Amino acid sequence: MLNKLNYYNSNLLKHKTNKKKIIITVCLLVAIYYFFFLKTGSSQEIGKNKDKILFQDDEQIQLFTMDDKELFSRKNGWNYDELENVINANIADMNQYNYEEKVSKVVWLDHIRPVNENLLRIKNNGKSKNFQNTNSIQHPDIAIITSNKPEYLERLLYNLLLVSNANVQRIHVFHDGYSEISDILKKYGVNPELHVSQYRHVANLKTQEEKLYYMNSHYKEIFNYVFNNQSMDKVIFLEDDLILSPDALKYFDILSNLMDVDPSIFCISAWNDNAFKFQDDLMKTFQDSRFTFYRQDHFGGLGFLLSHQIYTERIEPIWDKISTEPWDTIIQSAMSPGDQCIYPEMPRSQHAPNIKRNYTSVLDHQNEVDHWGFYKMYSDYENIASNVLDLSNLLYHKYDARLRSKIQNATEIDSFTAIPVLFSSTNDFVIYTKAISNSDSRWDKVINDLGIVGRGNGNIVRGIYKGVVETTYMGRNVVLVGEYSVFNNQTLRKTKPKFAVKDIPMPAAESLSGDPLSNAFYYRLKNDAALDLSIAHRGKSCEEHCTDKKQLCKEADMVLLTQPNAVLLMMEDQCESTEFSDSSSESSYLPFHMNDDTCLIPNDFRYLTCTYKPSAQLFGSRICLCRKISL
Ligand SMILES: *[C@@H]1O[C@H](CO)[C@@H](O)[C@H](O)[C@H]1NC(C)=O
Ligand SMILES: *[C@@H]1O[C@H](CO)[C@@H](O)[C@H](O)[C@H]1NC(C)=O
Ligand SMILES: *[C@@H]1O[C@H](CO)[C@@H](O)[C@H](O)[C@H]1NC(C)=O
Ligand SMILES: *[C@@H]1O[C@H](CO)[C@@H](O)[C@H](O)[C@H]1NC(C)=O
Repeated sequence: MLNKLNYYNSNLLKHKTNKKKIIITVCLLVAIYYFFFLKTGSSQEIGKNKDKILFQDDEQIQLFTMDDKELFSRKNGWNYDELENVINANIADMNQYNYEEKVSKVVWLDHIRPVNENLLRIKNNGKSKNFQNTNSIQHPDIAIITSNKPEYLERLLYNLLLVSNANVQRIHVFHDGYSEISDILKKYGVNPELHVSQYRHVANLKTQEEKLYYMNSHYKEIFNYVFNNQSMDKVIFLEDDLILSPDALKYFDILSNLMDVDPSIFCISAWNDNAFKFQDDLMKTFQDSRFTFYRQDHFGGLGFLLSHQIYTERIEPIWDKISTEPWDTIIQSAMSPGDQCIYPEMPRSQHAPNIKRNYTSVLDHQNEVDHWGFYKMYSDYENIASNVLDLSNLLYHKYDARLRSKIQNATEIDSFTAIPVLFSSTNDFVIYTKAISNSDSRWDKVINDLGIVGRGNGNIVRGIYKGVVETTYMGRNVVLVGEYSVFNNQTLRKTKPKFAVKDIPMPAAESLSGDPLSNAFYYRLKNDAALDLSIAHRGKSCEEHCTDKKQLCKEADMVLLTQPNAVLLMMEDQCESTEFSDSSSESSYLPFHMNDDTCLIPNDFRYLTCTYKPSAQLFGSRICLCRKISL
């Protein structure tokens, strides 16, 4: 039962739904989403609003949920032979020069930072005449979605113009709130704000449903405006609480060319859910990581690009009504099997709901203030170079061939516990899970073990691609393959050796023999001659400590410091006892040596960080694991 919501008939809103289960689930998900991801600093309190308001105080709100048929209407997805033909035909239509320029020999030239006139104008509160755009780069139009958060908007505009070299003419600010932002826009030389939503988003909305309703309708109106009214071809959508990399716009510009060749590329996302600092491939150079991109079935958000074609052909047809369904869930449901979003190994955006953070905090490696700070983000603007990239390996058929080959080359293990033990023999591992679908709960154990950030829109595992997740653990590649995946090749598995943790010869430390993970960590700490365990001087970060020793600090190595018993055995002289740190304290993510010789061990390795400098209130020093450079 789908009710078309009539804007002008508020009686409809009184209608009660009996889909209780759905409501409860939706509310729960919404509440979780809200508390972990949306909860932001201060939004402005606005008094009684003048405009028509949708939800009256005593009115019962109806939750509109799409039924399953609607959500999965494109169930059948791509015919892959046809898709490959279409891609090849598109390539044949391009001349050689265009193909090289857009796909196979793409020149990625880093830009120097914008000239100081921009800064001067901003400092003058927008008073100087012309905003200099001489250094701005070519990029698609940008739609900024903002609502009653002027200080976030200003942070983003500053970031776009002074860090990412945005062309100010291409910035469009969509505002559905009441706060005054016209002075900010003038100061930055940005076009006046656009109000495409019929409603103004009041700051003190009573319920989550109201909030979602407003967000949903605002997104819908913005998409409609940029793609239908303005006929823009490709648009970058940014929420006001993001921070972007210096090359973020170049990333969108270059990667979005692939959408013209491969119609299964649904969007380009700047964000990578599985890019915690510890998730580093230590066999890869920084530049290689920077220019590695992936495809995923999940709609990532946090800075994304959509095309006119994708919107009108896929999204708009299933979004003919405004609902309290979160807007990103609707977009996710518009992706059919075989559609993917491109995302970077090194994120080009960071969600920063804490206004104390900005691009400078990322660049200067300032202490993390919330969990978003433990993510990597490409922030370098001094290394100016011209790079030539072959992006054809992101086209559907080549991408699959690469992944097949990677899985074929990888060593099958039955548990991630083998990784720290087999560190010297192989770099690529594959773990098969019994999961039979993207939403199968059997994914949960393996993704928790490896610190993957869990599920997103549509309850699917973040970063998943056709039943496969490519990730890293302790600096090595790990490919997780679901039983249902087309990449689960039984013939191949029969021909290749597998390692079961119990069969790996590993002299067990007496006291640890009951705990395989502690034992594996201890074994590695003891036997990897490249690693050096020591205590930093008080107040120093491990980054500083390792650099002083002419060594490197890597969060991927520090994972070895997350089992108290293993650390105790290694540091008997320094630690009288080890215990998991209290999750509420500053030291909760720092392996830490207290003045009383208690050693604190974090129990969530996702929040490991080399750069954190402990405050004077912490009576002790960081325990660091450094990597010797010469080995
Ligand atoms: C489209 O834009 C024009 C002018 O920019 C405006 O007059 C018109 O009302 C808009 N239409 C819609 C449907 O937003
Ligand atoms: C970044 O934030 C800090 C405070 O957290 C502030 O001092 C600084 O001016 C900000 N920088 C920019 C470029 O906004
Ligand atoms: C797999 O191994 C072969 C032979 O060593 C190599 O040529 C190929 O590049 C590898 N594939 C991947 C994806 O690394
Ligand atoms: C499975 O692996 C075998 C052995 O490597 C290979 O010959 C076969 O082509 C693979 N099948 C698929 C569908 O990839």
